[in-house]
Amino acid sequence: PETILVQELANRMAERVADVVKSLMKMGVMATMNQSIDADTAELVIEEFGHKVVRVSDADVEQVIDMIEDAPESLRSRPPIITIMGHVDHGKTSLLDAIRKTSVVSGEAGGITQHIGAYQVTTDTGAVLSFLDTPGHAAFTSMRARGANVTDIVVLVVSAEDAVMPQTIEAINHAKAAKVPMIVAINKIDRPDANPQKVRTDLLQHEVVVEAMSGDVQDVEVSALTGQGLDQLLEAIALQAEILELKANPDRSAMGAVIEAKLDVGRGPVATVLVQNGTLRKGDIFVVGEQWGKVRALINDKGERVDEAGPSVPVEVLGLNGTPEAGDVLNVVDTEAQAREIADYRLQASKDKRAAAGAATTLEQLMAKA
Ligand code: GTP
Ligand code: MG
Repeated sequence: PETILVQELANRMAERVADVVKSLMKMGVMATMNQSIDADTAELVIEEFGHKVVRVSDADVEQVIDMIEDAPESLRSRPPIITIMGHVDHGKTSLLDAIRKTSVVSGEAGGITQHIGAYQVTTDTGAVLSFLDTPGHAAFTSMRARGANVTDIVVLVVSAEDAVMPQTIEAINHAKAAKVPMIVAINKIDRPDANPQKVRTDLLQHEVVVEAMSGDVQDVEVSALTGQGLDQLLEAIALQAEILELKANPDRSAMGAVIEAKLDVGRGPVATVLVQNGTLRKGDIFVVGEQWGKVRALINDKGERVDEAGPSVPVEVLGLNGTPEAGDVLNVVDTEAQAREIADYRLQASKDKRAAAGAATTLEQLMAKA
């Protein structure tokens, strides 16, 4: 059965651990802060404290607890997080580059040097958009599998020359599985043999009905080369974001997802984290997957040191004790002791899981031999 440490449950709810222990006692469950309880009991406790539980799946109680809802009045709008997907060579990178060049922020910065795999763009109309540099379809899926559903909108890039190709279909399936709305960018419209209508009819076969075909998926003809249609694409994204009414609570302790992580020779373990809720600050103590740390420095997408990062803001985080994995969830906690405890607990849990998996294989092998 899936379990959670009492201490961690308290952290996730931002309640005192003593109160959680007391509440458990009332239910007849005797557990200390270092003991774990099952998902159903955890759910009862969460409700007891007046938090709402959204059960994603029975499988992962930690995921369930990450979904504790903020009070409606604490929520503020946040920028959308956009992932660009599509078939190889259809122009994903070119489109991203073109967007950054037309955007106010990168224009002001004077360069388009990309420091981290995610960045923010401010459009001419003042909308702030967070882009994830195309993580590849496999990475998208594995992040989802690890519980980090970070994307709000998928921009599907389809070349007007080639129309729908195998990886286009893959991307459609990923977006559908993640229930993320799509915007179709029909790229390379500048090419003499461009046939945007073929893209639209091809998409019909995959149950993507674009607006030009009387459907509800926005489609925009663009050229990363000439810049044609880029403003319309950004408008389409901003419109879709408005419909989604994306909100977060900037006043709670931060929760985020690791986009990528590496061991840097000079700086030690570095993780690019997309803050999903709350505000991450210098000095915050956190646990991230099986690692923990204390924020030594935060570096934004322009390579500048910042003191804090709010919802939908991507930042590089320094001060980790080890290198986490892409898709790991970061949670700020109160003390180093807590952080260490949770990280150790997770490490042990995953060791146990691996051992169990190993045992199962051995058993299977034995059966096969018998
Ligand atoms: P992968 O990352 O390899 O999957 O490719 P990608 O989808 O990022 O495509 P990329 O941006 O690298 O573009 C592939 C080729 O198409 C490059 O030679 C680009 O210059 C060209 N290209 C991209 N967009 C356009 C466009 O709008 N018009 C024209 N004419 N060429 C384009
Ligand atoms: Mg590329």
